[in-house]
This record gives sequence, C-alpha cells and structure tokens, in this order.
Amino acid sequence: MFRSLTPFRKACAKVKLSGESQKIIYKISCQSLQHEPRPGFTRLLPHIDLPVQPVLQALERATHLKTLQPQMMAGPYQGLLLQMLSWMIRPRRILEIGAFTGYSSICLAQGLPDNGHLHTIEVNDELSSLFHTYVIKAGFQDKITLHTGDAAQIIPGLEEAFDLILLDAGKMDYPLHYELALPKLRPGGFLLADNVLWNGKVVSDFKDATAAVLRQFNQQVLEDPRVQSLILPLRDGLMLVRKHDI
Ligand SMILES: C[S@@+](CC[C@H](N)C(=O)[O-])C[C@H]1O[C@@H](n2cnc3c(N)ncnc32)[C@H](O)[C@@H]1O
Repeated sequence: MFRSLTPFRKACAKVKLSGESQKIIYKISCQSLQHEPRPGFTRLLPHIDLPVQPVLQALERATHLKTLQPQMMAGPYQGLLLQMLSWMIRPRRILEIGAFTGYSSICLAQGLPDNGHLHTIEVNDELSSLFHTYVIKAGFQDKITLHTGDAAQIIPGLEEAFDLILLDAGKMDYPLHYELALPKLRPGGFLLADNVLWNGKVVSDFKDATAAVLRQFNQQVLEDPRVQSLILPLRDGLMLVRKHDI
C-alpha cells in the first residue's frame, strides 16, 4: 500500500476522491497493514479482509488442531469461490470426491435448493466424526451424505445424475476419478478439479510424479471432445469443466 502520503494523494486526485474520503481510506489502509485481520475475517488482499462464516472459521480451527495436513482443506478464499460457483449453478445433486473434514462440502452445499443433496466420498474413516460434527453445526445434516471408502469403488454404485462434481481426492487418481465421474454428470453439468497446477510444478520441468500425472490430465481434459474446459490459475489452480449438452 502507500508508505507515504504523496503517492497516495496523487492516486486519490486521479479518481477525484474528496479530502474526507482520502483521510478515511488512508487510515483504514494503514490500520490493516499494521494489524492482523479482525476476528471473523481472513486477509484477502493487503488492505481487504474477507468475512468468514463462524461455522467455517470454527471448522478451520478444528482441522488445524486435529489433523496432520490441514493445508488440504479448501480454506476461506477457495471456499468462498466454491460457494459462489454453487450459488451460480444452483445444483440439485452434487458429488464431491475427497471430503477431508468437510470444509468444501459445507461451502458447496450452500448453493443447493431445498430438495438438493450432496454426496461426498472419503477414504479415511478417522475423519468422519469431525466431518459430521461440523456438517450438523452448519445445519446440513439432511443434505449431505458421507460415503466412507475408496472413491473408485463407490462412484460406480451412485445412482444419480449430478449437476456439479468436485474432484479433490488423490491427484494420481484424477484420470480414473474423472473417467468414472463424467458419465454421472448430466449433460450441461459442471465438474471442478482442484490443485491442477500443483504448486506451479505442472508448468515447469520439475521432476515430480504427481505433477507429471496432472500435466497429462490437464491436457487430456482440454482435448476431451465430451467437454469444454478452462483452468483458473487461482490458488493451486482450479479446472472448470462443462459437459456438452447432447
Ligand atoms: C485435498 S483433501 C480434500 C479437501 C476437501 N475437499 C476440502 O476442501 O476441505 C483430499 C482427501 O481425499 C481423500 N482421498 C484420497 N484418496 C481417496 C480415494 N481414493 N477415495 C476417497 N477419498 C480419498 C484423502 O483422505 C483426503 O482427505
């Protein structure tokens, strides 16, 4: 932000801000640079804090306290992106592959209509108690079903046509999960795949087995005639895929 007043004043003059507005904005930007985000907020940009729902904030804290890899959780920024996408699509049926502690499940479930439902799959049964605790706190116990087990075994048995699918389990399994899940996606439905840039390693010569699988996966999906797709280079890379109408 602005370390001295002169460049700040010049920027304000360009957008014709009044003297009073200049004072307020300068004060807020200096305060936010010096302090941690306010309670209940997460830092989005150096001078902008994003409010986070209390239940998600509590889940984030519990995930940090009770799991070994809390960084696997979507978190506030991507969580809000998932909520926005779900609100835009208004899916009746959602499939999530890779539930972890339920952060992204709760975010995606926000866009469900009254009769909507989200099925999520998680191989690690030790996570189910934490998952259910927060799904109940979020009020989604009637709208979210957790299937415990290997996604490759569970997906073929789901008798639903999904409007929205999130791939977020083992990255080496993305090609398999994509092939199993795509027939379950209704024509015109959307599939999201998280972490497709793998910390930038997919776009470098980095020797990494996961990056190599994701590099090939990204190319295959981009060339798949059944869908149209796009990679959003946000956070760790989110691929948006739309299945063609018949
Ligand atoms: C990145 S985390 C999911 C994060 C979660 N979607 C969120 O944003 O909070 C991936 C999860 O997939 C689970 N997983 C890995 N391989 C799986 C498989 N074959 N079937 C089902 N779950 C799997 C892992 O145990 C882990 O909890």
